[in-house]
Amino acid sequence: MTEFPENKSMIDVQEIQLDTQQTWQENAFPLILECKNSGVSLDDVREWVAANRDELDRKAAKHGSILFRGFPLETDQDFDAFIAAFDFPNFKYEDSLSNAVRTNRTERVFTANEAPPDVTIFLHHEMAQTPIYPSKLFFFCEHAAEAGGATPLCRSDVLFEKLQEECPDFAKNCEEKGLLYSNVMPDSDDPNSGMGRSWQSTFSVETREGAEAALSKLGYSHEWLEDGCLRATTPVLQAVRDLGGGRKSFFNQLIAAFKGWKDERNDPAKAITFGDGTPLDPADAERAADLAEDITFDVPWQTGDVALVDNYVAMHGRRTFSGTRKVLASLVAA
Ligand code: FE2
Repeated sequence: MTEFPENKSMIDVQEIQLDTQQTWQENAFPLILECKNSGVSLDDVREWVAANRDELDRKAAKHGSILFRGFPLETDQDFDAFIAAFDFPNFKYEDSLSNAVRTNRTERVFTANEAPPDVTIFLHHEMAQTPIYPSKLFFFCEHAAEAGGATPLCRSDVLFEKLQEECPDFAKNCEEKGLLYSNVMPDSDDPNSGMGRSWQSTFSVETREGAEAALSKLGYSHEWLEDGCLRATTPVLQAVRDLGGGRKSFFNQLIAAFKGWKDERNDPAKAITFGDGTPLDPADAERAADLAEDITFDVPWQTGDVALVDNYVAMHGRRTFSGTRKVLASLVAA
């Protein structure tokens, strides 16, 4: 049974189920598509992707995420070629305001957050703490960890419905006031932190004047610290995104900022407020994190897997791990 009538190639792709998979509004989360035949070439795969591109795009938005398993991808180049077949506009890491340190492998492909294995990266929408964010992202498991290292995924439209039921005032404040994020960027890249990207790299500048010009263009406020670090505070950013058709997602980095923006420069207590500057009740933020955890699916990475995540619908993070874990990422512009 294939759901892809456009499939005229040799490739037999079928929807499969996993025990831990979830169902929301009658849609599997994530959708899991497995390539059933061995010996297919990457060119065959690219042809199949190109023929089914629109359908895959629609399914990503509907399900929140698609996990591709059993496709013949081994290297960063294979992953790049797979993504290229979708013909989505590329979002370059260097153009982002991401606070993670990353290394480019190809023009489209870079290492996912390189924070140490014992650091949990909490659930978030990619770059929703900045005014510039990708619409979708791809992950590729180049090498699965010995233990742990799953990518947790959470349907944040489902989460927002739950928040509206359980913490209606908090949900309303998020929707109406938006959020302000504040973080301290180091004077040079700090690879030991999940948010160690220097201010020079973040804003693609070499001088303080350059950084100030970029900050003011983006509507940020800022403060230079004695040690050369930069505290930057965003303009008011949306915390809830209208997905159309009555769907709304909890589109922000509230959980990640509240629980995880912690390093030698950053204190989570100072990381986030409502858009009018009023503080969040920590109990509400904790409740949001707990509710999200309750509805999280952990991608059980196998080497060669690819996940396509609709960044407006699903949040992602990273579990701690042991051994070597190499998960690569690529972003799609809005
Ligand atoms: Fe991320």
